[in-house]
Amino acid sequence: MNLALKLPALALPPASPQFINRYSQSSQGQAQSAVRELAEGLSAAAASVSPKYFYNALGSKLFEAITRLDEYYPTRTEAGIFEAAHTQIAGALAEAGITHPCLIDLGAGNCAKASRLIPHLQPRQYVPVDISVDFLRDAAEQLQSSFPALDIIGVGMDFSAGLVLPPEVQQRDRVFFYPGSSLGNFSTEQALAFLQHIADPAQGQARGLLLGIDLVKDKATLEAAYDDALGVTAAFNKNLLRHVNTLLGADFDVRQWRHLALFNEAESRIEMHLQAQRNLTVRWPGGERVFRGGERIHTESSYKYTVASMSALLRRAGFTRISYWTDPEDWFAVFWASV
Ligand code: AVJ
Repeated sequence: MNLALKLPALALPPASPQFINRYSQSSQGQAQSAVRELAEGLSAAAASVSPKYFYNALGSKLFEAITRLDEYYPTRTEAGIFEAAHTQIAGALAEAGITHPCLIDLGAGNCAKASRLIPHLQPRQYVPVDISVDFLRDAAEQLQSSFPALDIIGVGMDFSAGLVLPPEVQQRDRVFFYPGSSLGNFSTEQALAFLQHIADPAQGQARGLLLGIDLVKDKATLEAAYDDALGVTAAFNKNLLRHVNTLLGADFDVRQWRHLALFNEAESRIEMHLQAQRNLTVRWPGGERVFRGGERIHTESSYKYTVASMSALLRRAGFTRISYWTDPEDWFAVFWASV
């Protein structure tokens, strides 16, 4: 008699996702390039730090809190669009001949958006990708318990520097899922290059892209979304200085900096900055920077599109068939673009 057959089902090991870490701060090369990039940005005449440095463990939690704020409309507006349009979205994929995609979730974070879409899109493989490695690992494990039979491959990596997926990721029927208006962190030229890479049959090999993007609207609504009454976005912005202290060994005093969020209409982008409250000197091993009172560090640009400007960008990138859905107020758009 086969003893294994007598084991109760509960004794089976729980299904767990594969996880591939291509971004480890403990890896020498990665840490050195972060140090170089940070020192360079802080030393520039117009100081800047890339928004990817928001996302340490606390930063990912603070971003999660932002998505629940009254003022931060993008997350709930996008969720409403997916809720209203999921049948049509699944239909659009089916029309392109895609029934069980390999769903590649760019900047997956807590995987909440994908978990709501998975029952409708029925992916054969789900590949969440994020720079916040430990946060993603936990999220992928959580998701696996909701979908025990799903093939999940978590990938920890910084795809802002180039998206090269590990060979474990299926090449067939790749659908890139890029929600939350994260593409808005790229400049228009960077966004074009990134989309071209995804659409390239020799590189990203996308059959299609499901993209969520924030739309241009009145300045007051935009600025409130990035400067909320509770100060969560201010904390999120300032937490970047704590992360820089850890990575670079800098001595930023968070209390000396003020959060700013401004809509730059000419560039069609929200800009977040940190402003020195008085003359300050910030030091790190091998460097220092004097900031005059009022001087700023540019920490984020979040580009806002129109349906027309995003459609044009997708076409330039090589996508040929484009559909989109918006909310009743036209505050946010979800695009399905196939190659
Ligand atoms: C994650 C880049 C889409 O730009 O709205 C939220 C980040 N920054 N509040 C955005 C963010 C401040 C967010 N993205």
